[in-house]
Amino acid sequence: MADRHVTYTSDNLTQAVIDRIRPDAAPRVKQVMEALIRHVHAFVREVELTPEEWEQGVAFVTELGKWCDDKRQEVILLSDILGVSMLVDAIAHRSHASVSETTVLGPFHRENPPRMTNGENLSRDVPGEPLEVEVKVCDEQGRPLEGAQVDAWHTSPEGFYDSQLGDAHSMRGRFVTGPDGVVAFHTVMPSSYPVPHDGPVGRVLSAMGRGPMRPTHVHFWIKMPGYRDLITHIFRDGDPYLHDDAVFGVKASLVTDWDLPKKEGKPAKLAYEFRIPKLDAD
Ligand code: BEZ
Ligand code: FE
Repeated sequence: MADRHVTYTSDNLTQAVIDRIRPDAAPRVKQVMEALIRHVHAFVREVELTPEEWEQGVAFVTELGKWCDDKRQEVILLSDILGVSMLVDAIAHRSHASVSETTVLGPFHRENPPRMTNGENLSRDVPGEPLEVEVKVCDEQGRPLEGAQVDAWHTSPEGFYDSQLGDAHSMRGRFVTGPDGVVAFHTVMPSSYPVPHDGPVGRVLSAMGRGPMRPTHVHFWIKMPGYRDLITHIFRDGDPYLHDDAVFGVKASLVTDWDLPKKEGKPAKLAYEFRIPKLDAD
């Protein structure tokens, strides 16, 4: 009688769950779900997850969802601090000497930033140490690209994005390159800042004994028809958090010295040449 029914045990359950995937499921669904089931089961086995810990995990994921709205994305933040966002990025954009490197988008990009032209003040009325920014958008061969859309955004000198201070736009703008591929603006020096850490992800960071800080940077999102989007930041050399970025977003090629001109009494300057590949290039 008893042997008419299968008993699922810790030895046969993983394969039983995998076997339930219908043979006619889409191949990528099969591949992803099979690997997900195998790895989640292996994790539970490896740490011998207790029922109490499982309940805590369920409560944690539920809480992650409750923290999310149009200004806060706690699920992406978890992916960021676990290095998953940068791993996905690294696999999608394998390093290539002739093109600029990518990094995380982060939650502070806004859909319709103020349209600006070269020479404008990105920071609007935010006070701070002056910073000049001059970037050039080029193809893989170093030829300037005209008509590229460049969104730039950064924090205040106190480490807050405009959306954390209110609804008004500041320290962000959208430019379009001219024939020389150049975008140039004045702004104020941003600062290192903590990722949002007053929610469940903050608790995970402190439970692991990790800090929430990101090193000083300016974000760029470059779009050019026929070319691959470039989402990246440029980091300020010398920042104490370059080696302890909470989201693992730093890449050596994206760190530059902004402070050299200060030796000659000039304002700090971020200068960078971006190289973006054509869409059909690998
Ligand atoms: C940012 O650089 O804006 C950022 C990236 C990941 C998480 C939080 C903030
Ligand atoms: Fe940022």
